[in-house]
Amino acid sequence: MTDRRSFLATLAGLPLLSGVPTRLAARPTDRPAAADPRMPSQIRATGEAFWTELRKEFTLNKDETFFNTGTLGASPKAVQEAVIEHMRHVDRDIARWDYYADHENYFTGYYPEMQYRDRLAAVIGGKGKDVALCQNATFGMNFLANGLEMAPGDEVVATNMDHPGGRKGFDLRAKRQGIVVKEITLPDPATDLTPDQLVDLYLGQTTPKTKLWAIPHINSGRATRFPVERLCAIARERGIFSAVDGAQSIGHLAIDVNAMGCDALYGSPHKWLLAPKGNGVLWVRPDKQAALWSTIASSAWDDQEDRMYALMQMGTGNLSLLVGLGVACDFHRQIGSQKVQERIVGMGDQLREGLRKIPGSKIISPTHRDLTCASTVYGLSGKTGNQIQDFLWDRAKIRVRSMGEIGVRHTCHIYNSPKDVDRTLALLGELART
Ligand SMILES: Cc1ncc(COP(=O)(O)O)c(C=O)c1O
Repeated sequence: MTDRRSFLATLAGLPLLSGVPTRLAARPTDRPAAADPRMPSQIRATGEAFWTELRKEFTLNKDETFFNTGTLGASPKAVQEAVIEHMRHVDRDIARWDYYADHENYFTGYYPEMQYRDRLAAVIGGKGKDVALCQNATFGMNFLANGLEMAPGDEVVATNMDHPGGRKGFDLRAKRQGIVVKEITLPDPATDLTPDQLVDLYLGQTTPKTKLWAIPHINSGRATRFPVERLCAIARERGIFSAVDGAQSIGHLAIDVNAMGCDALYGSPHKWLLAPKGNGVLWVRPDKQAALWSTIASSAWDDQEDRMYALMQMGTGNLSLLVGLGVACDFHRQIGSQKVQERIVGMGDQLREGLRKIPGSKIISPTHRDLTCASTVYGLSGKTGNQIQDFLWDRAKIRVRSMGEIGVRHTCHIYNSPKDVDRTLALLGELART
């Protein structure tokens, strides 16, 4: 019991509290005890066996295959347990809360939460003091769109396929304060798109009035991986602020914000980083923080020492979600960002290879090596996205996401296996023949 309690306390980054009953004690007696959650560093197996063992750390139903992390990730047991255990702890032990500065707190909103910022920063190669924690990518984008100094007539370049959570804050500012959003039209399908073309498209909408480039690291509609390093370098040379939407890339690709060269990166760790739902991040380059106004103000809105904490003034929030976020960051880092990327982009490659062999299939995402990732949008001639989605679910409980008429989006993650990809390809081949 004590071991389990210290294990969970360690996961949660909490001091070991006396009198905290374990989850085992609270579990209904009619259910078999689930195995204690493991972190990746506790898995001894190597090669394919490592991934098979890792899959056991997820509670996804065994007969179901989930290929839609692009919408929302499935958290591992360790993350779930940390959140649930902490929520129980808060509601049980709240009377012990004494508000002394160096003692445990029971909610967020009034503290810098440095340990969680540090752990998230470690995933993206940055420093905790340059990270603000928020609810999701939409918050991060809005903090930039609303908080950066821009005058009427100043221009922002964005694409016609940006997710609303990576774009609409700029449209709001345009309508309210007269900035101008210049829109790039991306070629669709994106099959033959090249990195040079993407760079030219940004430059083509850029004028002396351009103040910001809104760049999706990977866009959600076509799973196009943008050449962010090149784009950010060009933006920097021209004094243009580069705002990268990492909703589809944090936890998917190995990221180092300094190598990327962006001025800001925001994202939704509840997707690829497999964090509890309702976690967001905004990283801002230190020399750009002073010029970024807070959007939501409470006690520390004007904190000059910790500029990113000034962006976290959202009032009372759920600390348990941050406890889970910390564990999700540790879980990811114990596998290693590079290893995750190689594994899941490898399955994306396998999928695209297999699709090329299916008559009537069409890859709608880019096929250029530098623009591909673990997500792929594809179609089958004569079939809608809904038909493909429903066929895979009805036949084999395989969940991909319909993208409407054109086809489906299929995202591979660490709880998927090359065998899952092969099974899906076999079924797609069958559907294509009907
Ligand atoms: C590229 C991109 N940006 C932003 C968002 C918005 O994410 P959230 O709803 O978590 O704020 C999404 C969500 O799918 C996305 O794919």
